[in-house]
Amino acid sequence: MANAKQAGRLVILGTGGTIAGRARQAGDNVGYVAGQVSVAELVSAVPALANVRLDVEQIAQIDSKDMGLAVWQALVGRVAAHLQDPSVSAVVVTHGTDTLEETAFVLQRLLQPVKPVVLTCAMRPASALVPDGPQNLSDAVAVAQSASAGGVVVVCAGQVHGARDVTKVHTYRLDAFDSGDAGPLACVEEGEMRSFRPWPSSPPGDAHDTELLARFLAADALPRVELVTSHADTDGSLVRALLMAQAGGRPLRGIVVAGTGNGTVHQALAEALDAAQVQGVRVVVGTRCARGRVVPHPGLAFTDSSGLSPVKARLSLALELLSG
Ligand code: SIN
Repeated sequence: MANAKQAGRLVILGTGGTIAGRARQAGDNVGYVAGQVSVAELVSAVPALANVRLDVEQIAQIDSKDMGLAVWQALVGRVAAHLQDPSVSAVVVTHGTDTLEETAFVLQRLLQPVKPVVLTCAMRPASALVPDGPQNLSDAVAVAQSASAGGVVVVCAGQVHGARDVTKVHTYRLDAFDSGDAGPLACVEEGEMRSFRPWPSSPPGDAHDTELLARFLAADALPRVELVTSHADTDGSLVRALLMAQAGGRPLRGIVVAGTGNGTVHQALAEALDAAQVQGVRVVVGTRCARGRVVPHPGLAFTDSSGLSPVKARLSLALELLSG
């Protein structure tokens, strides 16, 4: 049986990425420039979207490796405004793959939307012999129109991933995303979404933190939280350098450590992190393992990342510090 469809208008926001990339030669899937093709052109390249009631808006045109606060503010602001419009049933965002999971996390954390906010992308540029962007965009629209969808999700290579779990795991393959132990939420088959497990529940309506959203949109910079990795032969000098550099620029407020295994940290690095904590810097430990989470236990030297990957734990801590 076909999924029930959301009534209402879709909005598709473009931010750049490989999905909007162009190479000099059609056979070149790596030597291209991201963020060249407008979101309006991307939409018009998908015949299935011709009869869908939608509006497009170009928020940015960047390679997502360069994502930062200014583009996030523009994107979050526009997504929030569209979600408040009763005539809009869902928002789709085209985005580069490289920091897609961070943008998904920011949108989910700040907006906690009941309506679907569907991020999509491509691993091959729009100019490729066989681009993957048009299918991903078509699938993203199918998810956005599905009555059972909600919250921020990522659609890539026929899979639907939740914002909290999704991570880019491959440099080249078309199915570059994975949700780790949680697995994908759903798949898309010939324009129909098929759910694998209960959708993560979002708090009702406007239960998101309006004060945090206002602070985020008005911020000149996020509280400074740096990411360091624990590895063999480290000596903690990177953390000491971060502490020394506090005098100029933004003060260091937090450090997220990509720890070894179950959140363990080299003893030399741990000593430097202890010194940072004494100076009031928040320290959170995640794992550099591709799978699993830090399983909390009494011997853990630092606060664990609650199952978040190191890059998402960094954002989570920065937003927590922003909320005061
Ligand atoms: C980007 O993240 O903007 C470039 C890489 C990609 O989209 O695959």
